[in-house]
Amino acid sequence: MSTTRATTKNRSAVRTLLRLWPYVRPARARLFTAAFVAVLASCTGLVIPLVLKWMVDGPVADGDTAGVWLGALYLLLLGFAEALLFGLRRWLVARPLSHVEAEMRAGLYRHLQRLPVAFHDRWASGQLLSRATTDLMLLRMFLAFPLTFLLVNSVTILVGVIIMLLQDWTLGLVILGPAIPVVVTCVIFEKRYAGVARLAQDQVGDLTTVVEESVLGIRIIKGFGRHRSQARAFRELSGTLRGTELHKARLLATIWGVIVTLPEVAIGAALVLGCVQVADGELSAGTLVAFLSTALALRWPVDSIGFLLAMSQEAATATERYFEAMDEVPEQETHTRGAGTGATVPHRPADGLQFHSVRFRYPDAPEDSPPVLDLIDLHIRPGESMALVGATGSGKTTLTALVPRLHEITSGRITLDGADITAMSREELRSKVAMAFEDPTLFSASVGENVLMGVDERELDRALSVAQADFVHALPHGTATQVGEQGLSLSGGQRQRLALARAVVGRPRFLVLDDPLSALDVHTEAAVEAALREVLADTTALIVAHRPSTVQLADRVALLSDGRITAVGTHHELLRTNAEYAHLMSGSGDSGEGEDTR
Ligand SMILES: Nc1ncnc2c1ncn2[C@@H]1O[C@H](COP(=O)(O)OP(=O)(O)O)[C@@H](O)[C@H]1O
Ligand SMILES: [Mg+2]
Repeated sequence: MSTTRATTKNRSAVRTLLRLWPYVRPARARLFTAAFVAVLASCTGLVIPLVLKWMVDGPVADGDTAGVWLGALYLLLLGFAEALLFGLRRWLVARPLSHVEAEMRAGLYRHLQRLPVAFHDRWASGQLLSRATTDLMLLRMFLAFPLTFLLVNSVTILVGVIIMLLQDWTLGLVILGPAIPVVVTCVIFEKRYAGVARLAQDQVGDLTTVVEESVLGIRIIKGFGRHRSQARAFRELSGTLRGTELHKARLLATIWGVIVTLPEVAIGAALVLGCVQVADGELSAGTLVAFLSTALALRWPVDSIGFLLAMSQEAATATERYFEAMDEVPEQETHTRGAGTGATVPHRPADGLQFHSVRFRYPDAPEDSPPVLDLIDLHIRPGESMALVGATGSGKTTLTALVPRLHEITSGRITLDGADITAMSREELRSKVAMAFEDPTLFSASVGENVLMGVDERELDRALSVAQADFVHALPHGTATQVGEQGLSLSGGQRQRLALARAVVGRPRFLVLDDPLSALDVHTEAAVEAALREVLADTTALIVAHRPSTVQLADRVALLSDGRITAVGTHHELLRTNAEYAHLMSGSGDSGEGEDTR
């Protein structure tokens, strides 16, 4: 989980937020108009004190009732104008901003689909989920509100201060007094808040992960009575998150205290000073009223700066988290390393599947650890099926995952009919190689869609019968039955048979099966094997197996031991000559083949 957590670098919030520009660009016209309208609205508010001044020094002082009414009408109109303009701003930004959010979310989704398996191994899914939801919502809110209002408030404060200085520059300076301590507090606050905001958002991601795992693993949790410990994990994480949020609140309270108190004190001081000046006749009552109501009108723009900064900081953090995922390098179309060595030859003879001194180490493994696979040399001839046998953890799954390039090999080459797989486009590679995994995933879709995955529908029945998956016809809606998380649950063996059907449906030239029959009962397995035999007759296949009956489907067997191929031969040869192999085969005990050893 913690691998996804960046240490908060010393980064500028502004520079981070600037990265949003490409997404915001399409909405720029409306955003700028909206900001302009908001500045206009805010400055309209500043005209009100000037009207007040005119009223106090004119009609009020002269006892002119009609003049007072006229002044009141002006004030009402100004108030209306201000409200209308703010309403217009809201209307202007709402739609384009939801569009920006949707685009960013779609972009993230597209990107995640293109990232290599190694990335998904490394990142907790909750961290990705929270980035795609909470963080993007924070960004939309930032673009809609703080971004505009930081600008609007700055302009309003500037204009207001100029108006006040023009009214009476001594009182103006009194009001400006707290500016320096307030700015200093804001700067300190920004820095601290950045760290805590990042922490809180990462913790939301961790919490999402726990919730997600609890939902996906609900059977295990219930079965093992783990709900208490799972609840404890959740409580602890949410307790931590609560602590972080409270820390945020404390920081916010501090800055708010400073930002609200100091200007109030200054306004109080100006009031006293102004009253003295009016009493001495140095200042007109109207000017004092105008001055003070301008100061009061500026209270909200100043007070709100605290949380506007907080929201901007959170948005900067959200942007950072968004781009951490977006900056991950997607799978390369072709790899420069192997490219050019053979891709240009138009017609190549069928040469089967070949591993040339392949070495592989998981990307997140330490540099000095031994590779999971070391100097694998293996040649599966065209049309041949090769079984891959080895103890648990010997690297069988890893080896099969290299062929469709779910992981990139560390060194060496893998060729299909002589062509380096790294020189092929992913599309070409995946049209040649089909896979079935030991633990198959079904998507929330119909059985048919799960098997076909884009292949022509006419192939469906053949594939289902090869995989002995005819049980689907007995499902409530046949091949149209919904399965997956939102549909019918299927047994492990049923899912494996669908996965197998998925692998053979496109009639691939190369078939890579990772223990595809492990969850089948002996009778079903025998039936699937009989059908597979026909498919295997004209495909080149690599099949991870551990039952003698499955191994016998293959023409030859390769023994993988601690990441190396230690023996290759027919089942019977290896049984005779290789003690480890004989041991592996005798242990599985569901077939009489083990007798051959003695
Ligand atoms: N995604 C991964 N990241 C790091 N190490 C892994 C990963 N997957 C498997 N391994 C390690 O690689 C070794 C081989 O695993 P695997 O290929 O699954 O073996 P097998 O399928 O033969 O049981 C194991 O030691 C396992 O811990
Ligand atoms: Mg395995």
